[in-house]
Amino acid sequence: MKPRVASYCRCLALLVCSVVFAPGGALADRFRMGVPTAPSHVWTIEANAFAANFAERTGGAHSIAVFPAGQLGNDAQMLQQLQTGALDMAFMPIAEITNRIPELGALYAPYLATDVAAAAKLLASDEARGLLDQLPARIGVVGIGYSLAGMRQIISRGPVQSLDDLRGRKLRITPLDPIRDFYVNAGVAPIPLPLGSVYDALANGQIDAVDMDLENIWKQNYYGLAETVILSNHMMFPMVGLVSAAKWRTLDPELKATITELMTQHFERIAVTYIDAEREYEAELKAAGIEVLPVGPEFFGTALAEWEETWRPKAPVLVRLRQLAAAAESGSAETGQ
Ligand code: BEZ
Repeated sequence: MKPRVASYCRCLALLVCSVVFAPGGALADRFRMGVPTAPSHVWTIEANAFAANFAERTGGAHSIAVFPAGQLGNDAQMLQQLQTGALDMAFMPIAEITNRIPELGALYAPYLATDVAAAAKLLASDEARGLLDQLPARIGVVGIGYSLAGMRQIISRGPVQSLDDLRGRKLRITPLDPIRDFYVNAGVAPIPLPLGSVYDALANGQIDAVDMDLENIWKQNYYGLAETVILSNHMMFPMVGLVSAAKWRTLDPELKATITELMTQHFERIAVTYIDAEREYEAELKAAGIEVLPVGPEFFGTALAEWEETWRPKAPVLVRLRQLAAAAESGSAETGQ
């Protein structure tokens, strides 16, 4: 058989094999879902649980194959695949979305939320949710809703007493303008690297420090390569559940409602998990003997005010989010929550 004919036959065979019929004769979907995190990470665990619940709810008529640990590419590549319809769904940081729609940068404002519980409340606000409405028209993806990872901290290969010990040092950041600006203002040299490259970069000395959450610091064993965790809680780290807009248009309303309902349940479970787990990771790290240095906003000096000045015009919703955060904080101070 000529090569071109053989290749045509292979394509045809693949197409025939991927056509599956649901009970009742309707076409079944096998969705592909990408997640950047490792199999042990809370996002991946909940993505798998979501896939299992979805298959059960649809009586096995539809299924979701979850690809963890950035197997399908980094966040930028996964977003491109969602845009073209080559990928159906993803749980990913809002970073890549923010690089295209800067107003979402408000959600990375330093010290906007004091902890995971406060961050989850802010992400549930109409103001934060409203930011997702523009996604289909502007970037070809549907934002089902938010969840989050733990608060951001800094892990350093060397000892740290003050910001001076980080000045001029190479610090890994998630590739993202608001986080880059934060560290540039602080006099640190930000190195954008996807999650999957962090361990090797830290191990081979390409970077001196990492902007990260306690879960990854603990589970990915970054602490084994470092001396100090600066417990700064300086930012929240939102995640968004995305569906390709091209795919979404083809789904019937019932399937859309099922995806939305189940994803939302798992977003909530992720937030609830972190509320307790953050303190457990901290205790594990201390028990492992790494220096844990708690610091407040004053650690970053004038960098915070400079960030605010740059980002308020780019992300006008920030003013309202700060008001909501302040109201929630004074409310919880009054009720002792
Ligand atoms: C990061 O880029 O630091 C990151 C990505 C996904 C989950 C948690 C952290």
